[in-house]
Amino acid sequence: MKALLLLLLLAQLCSPSLVPEREKDPEYWRGQAQETLRDALRLQRLNQNVAKNLILFLGDGMGVSTVTAARILKGQLQNRKGEESLLEMDKFPYVALAKTYNTNAQVPDSAGTATAYLCGVKANEGTVGVTAGVTRDRCNTTKGQEVTSILRWAKDGGKAVGIVTTTRVTHATPSAAYAHSANRDWYSDGEMPPDALEGGCRDIARQLVENIPDIEVGMGTRPLGTWAGASQRWDHQGYGLELARDGKGTTQGWGQAGRGGRWAMPRGGGGRGGRCRAVPGAAGGRIDHGHHEGKAKQALHEAVELDRAIGLATRLTSPQDTLSVVTADHSHVFTFGGYTPRGNPIFGLAPMQSDVDRKPFTSILYGNGPGYKIVAGERENVSAVDFAHANYQAQSAVPLRQETHGGEDVAVFARGPMAHLLHGVHEQNYIPHAMAYAACIGSNRAHCNAAARPAATILLPFLALLFLLC
Ligand SMILES: *[C@@H]1O[C@H](CO)[C@@H](O)[C@H](O)[C@H]1NC(C)=O
Ligand SMILES: *[C@@H]1O[C@H](CO)[C@@H](O)[C@H](O)[C@H]1NC(C)=O
Ligand SMILES: [Zn+2]
Repeated sequence: MKALLLLLLLAQLCSPSLVPEREKDPEYWRGQAQETLRDALRLQRLNQNVAKNLILFLGDGMGVSTVTAARILKGQLQNRKGEESLLEMDKFPYVALAKTYNTNAQVPDSAGTATAYLCGVKANEGTVGVTAGVTRDRCNTTKGQEVTSILRWAKDGGKAVGIVTTTRVTHATPSAAYAHSANRDWYSDGEMPPDALEGGCRDIARQLVENIPDIEVGMGTRPLGTWAGASQRWDHQGYGLELARDGKGTTQGWGQAGRGGRWAMPRGGGGRGGRCRAVPGAAGGRIDHGHHEGKAKQALHEAVELDRAIGLATRLTSPQDTLSVVTADHSHVFTFGGYTPRGNPIFGLAPMQSDVDRKPFTSILYGNGPGYKIVAGERENVSAVDFAHANYQAQSAVPLRQETHGGEDVAVFARGPMAHLLHGVHEQNYIPHAMAYAACIGSNRAHCNAAARPAATILLPFLALLFLLC
C-alpha cells in the first residue's frame, strides 16, 4: 500500500503536466541564474544617495511561511503554478532577517515589536513607545521612559509624515509611531483604569492628535477611540475612509482605504508645498487577524493585497531617492507542507493520507488555534468539508480560541538608498536606525555633510512614512 502510494506520488511528480516545458531545458535555469548573477554583480555599486522618502510597509504577522504561501497564491490567482512567481517584495535587492523577541518575551506581540522597528529600542510586550523599564499596565513606571519614533525624527527634520493603516490608527502597530503607553489597549480614556488616569497617563487616541499635531496623512478603516480633539475632524465613510484635518489648516487629505481603492493627497503638507501621491490601494494587511482565527485564506489574500500596494508604491517612486522597506512585526505558527506536487492548490490537500489515522490532510496547518477538531473521537476527515472556503479554519495540533504568534525571525526586504545596510541577521530595533541614517534624520546626521555625498545638501522637503499593515 505504501509502495503503491509512493509510486503514485512519483508518477504524479514526474508527469509532464506538472513540469512547465521550458523548465525541462537546463538552459532555462542556467540563463535565469546568469541573469540573477548579473543583477547581483551590479549591486557592487552601492546606492549611497540620501533618501528623500522613506516608506515602511509592515505586514502584521507576515512571517516567512506566509510570504512564500502568498507568492504561490498570487501566481495561482494568475492561473500559473505559483511557486515560480515573484512578489513585488521579492524584487527588492536586499533581504535581511530580524530577530523579533521582546525584552520579556521569546514570542513577541505587536506592541513591543512596533516599539522596536519604529522607535529603535526593544521593549516589553504590550507596551508602546516606552523603554523596557516600563511594566505593562503600570502607568507609574512610564514617566521619563518615553522613546520617540522615526516619525518624530522625520518631523523634527522638517519632513512631512504619514501613517496609513487598514486597522484603527490607534492599534498597537501604528500607535508606537506617536504614543507612549504602558498598555496597548488604552485606546481611549474610557478604556483606562482609574489609577492610570489619576497618574496622568494619556490614552492613545488623545496622543495621536497631541503628540504629532501635524501628521500629513493618517488613515485607518475604523474610527478612532472616543476621544475627539477640538481642532481635528476624522470622518470615516463606509468601508473607505475620508479624512480631513482642520486646526491649523495644514492638511487636506482624502482617501479610500477600501479594497482595490486608491487614495491620494492632491496637495499634501499644505504650507510646505510638498506633494504626496501614494497609492496603497488595498485593504492591506489584516494578515494577523486571519491567522489568529486560523483562516489562512483570509490571511494570504491580505498578504497578496499588501504586495499589490507595494507594487503600486514602488512604481510611483524611484530607488534613486526612496528607501522602501518591507517587513513584519512577528510570525505565526502557520505552515504548509506534505510533499505537495508542483502547482498544488495552495489551499489544497497533500497528495497522501496520514499513515497513522488514514485520513487526508490539507497542506496548510497551524501549530495551534481554533481549527483543532475532533469528530467522534478522531481527527476530522477534511475531505468531507469545504477546505477551500474563505472561512475554513485549517487544522491545528493544539486547540486555542486564538492561534498564536510565532517566534522565528521575519524577513526585511529593502530597496533604495542605503538598502544594503539591511543585510544580515539583525535585531529588529536596528531597522529605524538604518532608515534614519539613509534619510539623514534622527541622531545619524554627522555623515550627511561629507563631501562624498553632495546629495545631502539638497534634501527635499517631503518625506513620506507610510505604514500599511496590520
Ligand atoms: C504603581 O502602581 C501600581 C498599581 O498599578 C502599584 O501596585 C504600585 O505600588 C505603584 N508603585 C509606586 C512606586 O507608586
Ligand atoms: C474521508 O472522507 C472521504 C469523503 O467523504 C471518504 O471517501 C473517505 O473514506 C474518508 N476516510 C476515512 C478514513 O474516513
Ligand atoms: Zn497578533
